[in-house]
Amino acid sequence: MNYEQAKALLESKKQTQLLRYYDELDDAGKNKLLDAIENINWDFEDALANPVDMSGKDRDIRPIAGLRLSAIEKRKAEFEKIGVEAIKAGKVAAVLLAGGMGTRLGVDGPKGAYDIGVTKPLYIFEQQMKNLAEVNKKCGVFVPLYIMTSDKNHAQTTSFWKAHNYFGYPESEVKFFKQDMAPAVDFNGKIFLETKDTPALSPNGNGGWFGSMMRAGLGEDLHKRGVEWLNIYAVDNVLQRIADPVFVGATIDSGVNCGAKVICKTNPYEKVGVLCMDGEKPDIIEYYELTDEMANQKDENGDLAYCYGAIMNYLFRLSQLEEIVNKKIPVHIVEKKIECLYEDGVTRKPEKENGKKFETLAVDLIKPMESVLPFEVAREKEFAPIKNKTGVDSVESARELLKLNGVEL
Ligand code: UTP
Repeated sequence: MNYEQAKALLESKKQTQLLRYYDELDDAGKNKLLDAIENINWDFEDALANPVDMSGKDRDIRPIAGLRLSAIEKRKAEFEKIGVEAIKAGKVAAVLLAGGMGTRLGVDGPKGAYDIGVTKPLYIFEQQMKNLAEVNKKCGVFVPLYIMTSDKNHAQTTSFWKAHNYFGYPESEVKFFKQDMAPAVDFNGKIFLETKDTPALSPNGNGGWFGSMMRAGLGEDLHKRGVEWLNIYAVDNVLQRIADPVFVGATIDSGVNCGAKVICKTNPYEKVGVLCMDGEKPDIIEYYELTDEMANQKDENGDLAYCYGAIMNYLFRLSQLEEIVNKKIPVHIVEKKIECLYEDGVTRKPEKENGKKFETLAVDLIKPMESVLPFEVAREKEFAPIKNKTGVDSVESARELLKLNGVEL
């Protein structure tokens, strides 16, 4: 794209501020900026013009049936056998979603490279791989691992894994792919400049992981290996079980397209989104969408009817993902502190929210998957997310939970 074409495009989009410093740039900078403009994904315009209706009205919300701990315990051996067989046969792969910015934790670089050790280093990635190693040992195989990064952390993530010898994995079993980026805009919808030759782009949320994986050419790899199920998981939960054979077995046995690890709400008003049915389809209802009556509704056993809080550990049937890969899922608009170029020519992060980012969410894949099995896990054994440095869901709380589970720190 040359300057005239970029100018015409930006005039039509009312985004000419991106060319504000063009004349000051050297040739390399000019080309860099023109390339970046050519590659802007303009889907955000539609998201701004038609924001997702988050009110939950017009939905036919009902409780969803799931597997509680006691029911799982009774059939554990049976589920485990099915799961181990599937993993042994190479039907299960793991996908680590690690493209996020980890802004709440406030570290530079990949969140998974954060050291949570006390007396010795223990990186988040490392702890998760220790959990996966137990499954590999039991099944006698390496579960193929795919890792999603973003432009913001790809180089650092791949070099970190290499420097740590892929945490005991053969290099051939770990593949990295980058997620897509979306522009970040101010409150008037104008795309920020991050530097004079670079529009501000951010990872576009974790909902587009499968499309990004396909665009990276990994579909062929999955089929060559005979993979049928993909277990996606977040980088921040250091206690989660990845490719857990019991979970895999229960999901396969139930005939659904998606298994979701869930923790049960401890009280009716706990602030977590819960799995539910919307008419004939599975969905998530946010805590603020639940009426008082629904929040307190009980099932036939006297337990909360809306209790299954999802923890970002899902097992997706590959064939169904392939069916829906081109279906649009909602683009959510989130107000954030966006690092950008200020009038004084300096790039910095503002003290408070200064604009909007656009994100799709993995949880919005639940509905198009059409059937889902909520699979309860014990919160204190499998849920230690690290979102913040201190307080709730923090390095501190995760360390306590790791210790309770016998992990030496
Ligand atoms: P979070 O919603 O916690 O976002 O991501 P985050 O970016 O890591 O952290 P904050 O909000 O900036 O503090 C949940 C999971 O989804 C991944 C994250 O890496 C994490 O594993 N994710 C999030 C992506 O892979 N891509 C994204 O664009 C966003």
